[in-house]
Amino acid sequence: MSTSDGNIESILHEDRSFDPMPSKGAPWHIGSLDEYKELYARSIEDPAAYWSQAAEQMHWYNHWRSVVSYEAPDAKWFVGGTTNLCYNCVDRHVKDGFGDQVGIVWEGEPVGDNGPEILRLTYADLQRETAKFANVLLAHGVRRGDVVTIYMGMIPELAIAVLACARIGAVHSVIFGGFSAQAIADRIEDANSKIVITCDGAWRRGSVVPLKDNVDEALELVGEGKVKTVIARQRCMNGIGWTEGRDHWWHDVMQDAIEDCPCVPLDSEEMSFLLYTSGSTGKPKGIQHTVGGYMVYTATTSKFAFNLVPDADQMYWCTADIGWITGHSYILYGIMPNRVPTLMYEGAPNHPEPDRFWDIVERHKITQFYTAPTAIRAFMKWGDEHPKKHDLSSLQVLGTVGEPINPEAWMWYHNVIGGGECPIVDTYWQTETGGHMITPLPGATPTKPGSCTQPFFGIDAAVVDADGNEVGANEGGLLVVRKPWPGMLRGVYGDRDRFVDTYWSTVKIDGKPVYTAGDGARRDDDGYFWIMGRIDDVINVSGHRLGTMEVESAMVAHASIVEAAVVGMPHEIKGTGIAVFCSLATGFTASDDLRSELREHIAKEIGAIAKPDMIRFTDALPKTRSGKIMRRLLRSIAAGELEVNQDTSTLEDFSVVAKLQESGES
Ligand code: WTA
Repeated sequence: MSTSDGNIESILHEDRSFDPMPSKGAPWHIGSLDEYKELYARSIEDPAAYWSQAAEQMHWYNHWRSVVSYEAPDAKWFVGGTTNLCYNCVDRHVKDGFGDQVGIVWEGEPVGDNGPEILRLTYADLQRETAKFANVLLAHGVRRGDVVTIYMGMIPELAIAVLACARIGAVHSVIFGGFSAQAIADRIEDANSKIVITCDGAWRRGSVVPLKDNVDEALELVGEGKVKTVIARQRCMNGIGWTEGRDHWWHDVMQDAIEDCPCVPLDSEEMSFLLYTSGSTGKPKGIQHTVGGYMVYTATTSKFAFNLVPDADQMYWCTADIGWITGHSYILYGIMPNRVPTLMYEGAPNHPEPDRFWDIVERHKITQFYTAPTAIRAFMKWGDEHPKKHDLSSLQVLGTVGEPINPEAWMWYHNVIGGGECPIVDTYWQTETGGHMITPLPGATPTKPGSCTQPFFGIDAAVVDADGNEVGANEGGLLVVRKPWPGMLRGVYGDRDRFVDTYWSTVKIDGKPVYTAGDGARRDDDGYFWIMGRIDDVINVSGHRLGTMEVESAMVAHASIVEAAVVGMPHEIKGTGIAVFCSLATGFTASDDLRSELREHIAKEIGAIAKPDMIRFTDALPKTRSGKIMRRLLRSIAAGELEVNQDTSTLEDFSVVAKLQESGES
């Protein structure tokens, strides 16, 4: 990351021994760096031994015959074993006598006279509700392996719907509530899904997001009759359209549902869910995850990275939305098997006031708090007075995820939120990896602000050149993972070529392909990893992945645009913002009105997260002699490194800069 690299360097060199190693959350699962190193070395020497011992912590109906079989790019974990994710998150705790313990705490966004609405669901409640909803799914024709689309706000029924799918082996495809009708339609079509679970609306910063309307619009795009069933949970009581025969209220279908529906023993390698994520080319791809490997991987990483301990008065909170992988793995699937309550918050961090998160931390005595650098930067901007109003002394471990954290934000998080006493786990991972790949372990790994530090057990991460040779200390290279791990993706839904091309074609070692993450990285003299950002055409906006091609094709779908190029630009809060350079069709004039119209158009095509931060109109895009758009030049212009006359009333002419650049380059 060019934005933070300078800072990282100075902190590294000025204070190389920075190591808070706080002790507030002790005892730690891993007590020292030496213990980590020894365990790590053993896990890499014999991954099967490490992972079979980890898998023994879970419930299996049938034990696996072999731990792993691997022929790159295809891995199978816990081969022949049968298990169930919902059983391990919920039923198992009931069976063990913990039915009365709280599994999920939920807090709604609106704050009434008596405070916000809070629900505490015990494992027994969750067993009953997931069984009932599983029966509803079965009654509507859902069978093992069918894809159930879920597009809901952050309400308890979202967790119940997800876990109900897991109960019966239906494959869920959760779509983030911020995505548009077009994005929903694309995902429903790609997965050939026949059923959608949604809500009338979702609360966001005091307003209603019309989820059911978006679903209705999406289903029109998909074509009549393709989706047979829509089940909607009432939440905001906003008026919605209704298609008789297809649409059902959640409360109606649940009313008579039977409370008994045993978890189905599923093959370890069966697909548990699809989650769509952006790539360099084309439409978002459906990343496929499994039952057994994903379960073992998320539960194990959760336990060690967050130091989860049952019956230790812990209250864990991850602020992500379940629509992203972070919510899948670290609100639900990884946390719940550890029998530590997980908090789900419905709304925005600044509603009704900018101290909402700290108010939640104080009231619920949060012990582990997991959020994104973009949120931390926003909190910094809103001012220290908001967290300072609250007692945050319950906090033990602080986590971040989604993008590189700039050292300034790291220090603020450490001092202002953690009171200088909580370890920070900067967890590097991806939708594709299922769970954490490179992360400090609290209490064991000395941290350096801006570095995700060391690989998790069993993760053979390396920084290599194009030939697969490890590069030297402090040299940049490609981040690869040389051995398989249980949580790895097993495919891109319906597109084997894309799976192979994207992840397994860039680097070979000893003639065999290795997993290439798509990120640039370097290791310092201590072997610590520093993620340097994406090396493909993916940009990371507020920790959310977007393909520049996705935004470009949405732009040219607008009548006024002939050609568009999208690049990332530094952004104070989002980390990376979206800059669009585009040329207009004849008859259209550059104006601020057109800019606003285009921003709304993008929100409609993809979602509000993809709204450009800057739109610049030009006669023609700067191209090389061979006709390639000069993206590096556009990035410099967007970053303000190159001065170009910017007059909104006329079209900009980048050709002059382009020519200068090209002649300078050759
Ligand atoms: C980036 C989110 C630096 C990276 C879990 C990766 C990070 C992409 C970090 C995956 C981190 C995630 N430090 N960069 N701690 N965590 N990234 O699939 O570029 O939404 O490839 O998964 O986010 O984003 P995704």
